[in-house]
Formats: sequence, C-alpha cells, structure tokens
Amino acid sequence: MPSSTQNPALSLESISQYLTTTRVGKPTILLHSTDSTNAAAFELARQGTPDGTVVLSEQQSAGRGRLGRTWFSPSGMNIYCSIIFLDQADQGRPHQELSLIPLITGVAIARTLQQITRLSPTLKWPNDILIQKKKVAGILCERGGTSSNHSCLVIGFGINVNMEVADFPEDLRNHATSLATEAGQFFDRNLLVAHLLKKIEWSWTRHGKEHSSKILHAYRELCSTLGASVRVETSPGKIVTGRVLTIDDEGSLHLQLRETSTATPPLIIRSGEVIHLRDANEP
Ligand code: BTN
Repeated sequence: MPSSTQNPALSLESISQYLTTTRVGKPTILLHSTDSTNAAAFELARQGTPDGTVVLSEQQSAGRGRLGRTWFSPSGMNIYCSIIFLDQADQGRPHQELSLIPLITGVAIARTLQQITRLSPTLKWPNDILIQKKKVAGILCERGGTSSNHSCLVIGFGINVNMEVADFPEDLRNHATSLATEAGQFFDRNLLVAHLLKKIEWSWTRHGKEHSSKILHAYRELCSTLGASVRVETSPGKIVTGRVLTIDDEGSLHLQLRETSTATPPLIIRSGEVIHLRDANEP
C-alpha cells in the first residue's frame, strides 16, 4: 500500500495548481465516492452544469465499462474521471468527426501517459490502453440529455494508477495492470489529471478535418490491433476471426476474414470487442 506521500489524495487545490486549461475542468467536482462518475456527470448536466465540467471520484461502487461491463474501481489509488461536453460545443461538427471522439481521447490519454510515465502504452481498438499487452485504462463515451433537453456527451475514463498486483482481483491479474506496477514507482494523480485534461481539451478544440487526419495517423501508429490477427465479437454471440487490414477515416476496422482470399472485400466493423490472437509485429 503506497503511503500518502507516495500517493497523495486527489485534491482540487493540488489539481488547480497544475491545471492550465481554459474550459475543461472549470469547474471540477471531486467526490469521495459515487456509483459512476459518468452517471454523476449526466445528473449534473440535467441540473445545468457548464460545458467542460469534470467529475472525479476517489472510488466508484458501480463503475461502468464498455459493452455493459463493470469497471473495477477501488478507493484512493486510481483515476475515475468524466468530462461533460454540451451539445453547442458540437455545432457544425459532422457526424463522422464525432464518431472519432473515443479514438481521439485514446490518443490523448496514451500520449499523456507516455510523457509523464515514460512507459510505452499502445491502443487496442477501439480505445483500450494497454501496457505490455495488459489493460491500464479504458474509455467510455456516452450521450445523454441536459436540463434544456439538449444532448450532451460524457467522456469517461478510468486509469489504474497506483494499484499493486495484490490490489487486483485474481481474475483480472492476467489482463490488467497499473502505471505503478509497470514503472516500479507511484505517480501523483493530481498532476496526471491536470495533464490529461489539458491534452484532451487541446485535442477537442482542434478537432476539425485536418486535425482529425493527423490524429488518425497518430492513432494508427499507437494501435497494436492494426495488422494483427484478431477475434471480434461484433454483437452478443456473433464472433468473426481474421486479420485487420486497416482502420478507416471513421475509425472502423477493415477485417479480412479468415479463409477468404484477398479478392474478397473486407468486413467493416464499427463496434465490437477485439481479442488479439497475434500482434502485427510478432514473428
Ligand atoms: C472500458 O470498458 O474499457 C471503459 C471503462 C471506463 C471506466 C470509466 S471510470 C470513469 C467513468 N465512469 C464510469 O462509470 N466509467 C468510466
């Protein structure tokens, strides 16, 4: 268990010392515990909170993952964070660009972790962040309503920061890791939060056609799913296997199905759960 000097508690005062954003995190709400920071963010949006509001919690009792899963959220070690983007912030953005938001967020988080920890995170499509093939962070983007019946987007992310191996339930140990486990040192979550919010704000405000193509380029460089042999669950119980040929400009996977020739058009997959059978660079 890290001491409080190695792993200081989340604190608004400390975050604000490092925070250099103009919109994201103004305000930031810090909770001791909640069911899910995404759920808390939607509640705040219904109450009229401003665009860019951030919700953090030291713990979640019902952290939500993708595809209806739960997100393991013990107290005092990790980052559980949700950012509210109100719909006027989307105005003028074509749907195609909005579909890239989870990917853009993945790139922003992976790059920040790289800069701060000197580790080498990769992305598993669509936006799992892995280190040494184990999941260190996940992103859940959800849409909902506001007080004035407009829609809002909540970008939620969870990062395993200062957990040690013994803190993970046994069934997660082979698949999940933390920054501290990989780096052999603990990290100040307040500093990490401030840098993550800055990078996400930067990506979001530059989100436009030219920037999207740069981000997609960065995404493809970070994404270990590209070129890999994979099994994909495209809907409950529907599994396809093949090799990933490309990730297109909308962020969809193009899969050459196993036992089909290269003359057969690839299957285009917009969402699903990927299992890597073999990485692109593995001999
Ligand atoms: C995934 O399944 O990979 C996505 C996990 C997302 C977890 C985060 S933790 C903060 C935010 N609040 C939630 O309830 N979920 C997201």
